[in-house]
Amino acid sequence: MHRSKRSLLDIDSLTREEIELIIRRSAEFRESAPSRSLLAGVPVLNLFFEASTRTATSFTLAEQRVGADVISFAPGTSSLGKGETIADTALTLRAIGVCVIVVRHNESGFATRLAESFDGHVINAGDGTHAHPTQALLDLATLHAEFGRFEGLRVAIVGDILHSRVARSNIVGMKMLGIDVTLVGPPTLLPDAFAAKGLHIERDFDAVLPRVDAVMMLRIQRERIAASLLPALADYTIGYQLHAQRLRILPSHAIVLHPGPYNRGVELTDDALADPRSRYEAQVHNGVYVRMAALDLLVNAAGAVA
Ligand code: NCD
Repeated sequence: MHRSKRSLLDIDSLTREEIELIIRRSAEFRESAPSRSLLAGVPVLNLFFEASTRTATSFTLAEQRVGADVISFAPGTSSLGKGETIADTALTLRAIGVCVIVVRHNESGFATRLAESFDGHVINAGDGTHAHPTQALLDLATLHAEFGRFEGLRVAIVGDILHSRVARSNIVGMKMLGIDVTLVGPPTLLPDAFAAKGLHIERDFDAVLPRVDAVMMLRIQRERIAASLLPALADYTIGYQLHAQRLRILPSHAIVLHPGPYNRGVELTDDALADPRSRYEAQVHNGVYVRMAALDLLVNAAGAVA
């Protein structure tokens, strides 16, 4: 099928200018609500096959704030479970009048497959270990709010890079914007192959900390890792937990990011969350505004085709 509608499947569905536009507009929306309903009467369906607190709530609120007709339902009860193909479900949803589908699924590539058969906009709210573009947008918006620029910023992404769709989308977006990215973690969660993508890899967290502007801590994605390959908690915390001693060597101007959900006592301690440099709440807050801006760009930007 020839698709005429634009989708946001990963961060590189957008140009650098569009990423900057979304971030600029999200900052405007944060200051004052849009003066008109940007998506008045546009039916938006939230289809979350996987658990979500932040992302699902944030999308729903963003959709309401741009005036969309919001439909949310538990896909456990959808006909995909009765053997209907994605293509047929897509056809049905379009015929009902759905214009935008926000989808989360534990299979990498699910959003792309849906977009191939849905004649509307698809926004990927996380697919397997592949991508989570609106999370990357909100992380970038948080960095921009802090530093007023991207070019030359030094960011360390730490932990389970291998299974993290958040890390993948951030790596793509940060490279597009000229951010200097260092990946930090043990070989089991950060294979050497990541270096081939033109990224720095570091095994020694303490060596990286003194020279970053931001550190992004990641949850170990237990649900995606065979039990036998899970690192021992004691070893992991020694090498990669952000705790009080490490906070002392993090520069005073640097910030701590975490996409959530965080596991206290694993990738970070209470000290890291309570530290004035933690921007977790700002990230969550910014998520609503970047999603408003992304919805507006996809649905209302003239002539834009992915
Ligand atoms: C992440 C996700 O689901 O990809 N959370 C989020 O959307 N903020 C990260 C995670 O599950 O660890």
